[in-house]
Amino acid sequence: MQKKVEWYLDFVDSAYKPAKNELTALFYFEPAKGVSVNEAIGRIASESSTGTWTTLFTMPPRMKNLMAHAYHREGNFVKVSYPFDLWEPGNSPQLLSGIAGNIFGMKALDNLRLIDIQLPKEYLKHFSGPLHGMSGIRKMMNVYNRPLLGAVPKPKIGFSDVEHAQIGYETWMGGFDFVKDDENLTSTKFNNFDKRVKLLAKLRDKAEHATGDKKDAYINITAETDEMKRRAKLLHDYGFRYAMIDVVTCGFSSVQTLRETLGDYGMAIHAHRAMHASFDKNPKHGISMYLLAKLMKMIGVDQIHSGTAVGKLVGTADEVRGVADVLREDNIHEIKNIRLNQNWHGIKKAFPVTSGGLHPGLVPDLLKLFGDECVMLVSGGIHGHPRGTRAGAMATRQAIDAVHEGETLEQHAKFNPELQEALNKWAHLKPI
Ligand code: 6PG
Ligand code: MG
Repeated sequence: MQKKVEWYLDFVDSAYKPAKNELTALFYFEPAKGVSVNEAIGRIASESSTGTWTTLFTMPPRMKNLMAHAYHREGNFVKVSYPFDLWEPGNSPQLLSGIAGNIFGMKALDNLRLIDIQLPKEYLKHFSGPLHGMSGIRKMMNVYNRPLLGAVPKPKIGFSDVEHAQIGYETWMGGFDFVKDDENLTSTKFNNFDKRVKLLAKLRDKAEHATGDKKDAYINITAETDEMKRRAKLLHDYGFRYAMIDVVTCGFSSVQTLRETLGDYGMAIHAHRAMHASFDKNPKHGISMYLLAKLMKMIGVDQIHSGTAVGKLVGTADEVRGVADVLREDNIHEIKNIRLNQNWHGIKKAFPVTSGGLHPGLVPDLLKLFGDECVMLVSGGIHGHPRGTRAGAMATRQAIDAVHEGETLEQHAKFNPELQEALNKWAHLKPI
């Protein structure tokens, strides 16, 4: 008989019952040619916990209690449970280095998709969650019963700080709550972060004074972490209640650090997800957007980009709804092979943010998908209005009123020329 050299199969146990405090992951997997199903799922559990490719000479008994178990498989889906002691409390990068680490590179798997991780109360309690959450943000902005509205000056980069702030002012004056930086605008030769902050602060105060409404901005502090902390302080010094972070490119660790820095200032986090599609677009491989949103809520962003289903970017209606659920609900119920149970144990709700190719004509679709509990970003769709940014923002507000009043956009446009002009240009176009 051949001597046992591998121990992957030790990680497969269909009779195993995970303890209450274990983390459970749901994967989709496709074994490579010549690899059996049990070998494949054994490798997933092994490489993401204690295992290595061969049996070992030294094996303290403790190891047995730290092994993950592939304990439930149905077709190409497997659930793997991870003992609580594998994890360092409050260390989000470590979670991913384990459950989403080397396993993606194993030759034994043709495809592997991490769909969800169920996080027990004992694990969650070491993370802050959103500082304000949905109800705190509404209170902070004094906006109720409609989506919060924001716009990015477009084209996305190239305006000077002065031009940028002026477009921001028009956006606020048209009835929007937020002016937003684009994800690739940080601090450039032509649009300096510090200058932009100062200019926007001045015009924000002017717009607040003129309208009597609260106005704010999602100014992008994305940079090296220490510089982000400096930018966060500057925003706070100039009275902003929010900071924006490109959470994927910055990384989990810096988002966690900034959650604390911004938390000390009482500031909310707007999370842009640029780069997410590099790992969540292929349904057979990578990490789901659902899980990214979930982990960012755990760390503590108040809102995160979640897709539109009708706009220019990827994400089906079901996917987008799922992301909105995990952000907005306190208790999630398992849907077979799609998501696991998750009780948030008091972590606050976060807003889904919808953006990308939106304009007033798409507002009814968006409200159908999200309801009022979202942040809606309409950028090109206001700046491209035939009479400019302010009229475009007004047209978007009118489109929301139309839906709330049970009218079609066309009916409402009869008495609202800005909406009529927007419809004349775009109608209900779904950009691709
Ligand atoms: C923004 C812009 C928009 C956005 C993309 C991606 O909010 O920065 O308006 O250009 O970056 O549409 O949006 P999603 O990540 O929401 O799909
Ligand atoms: Mg953008």
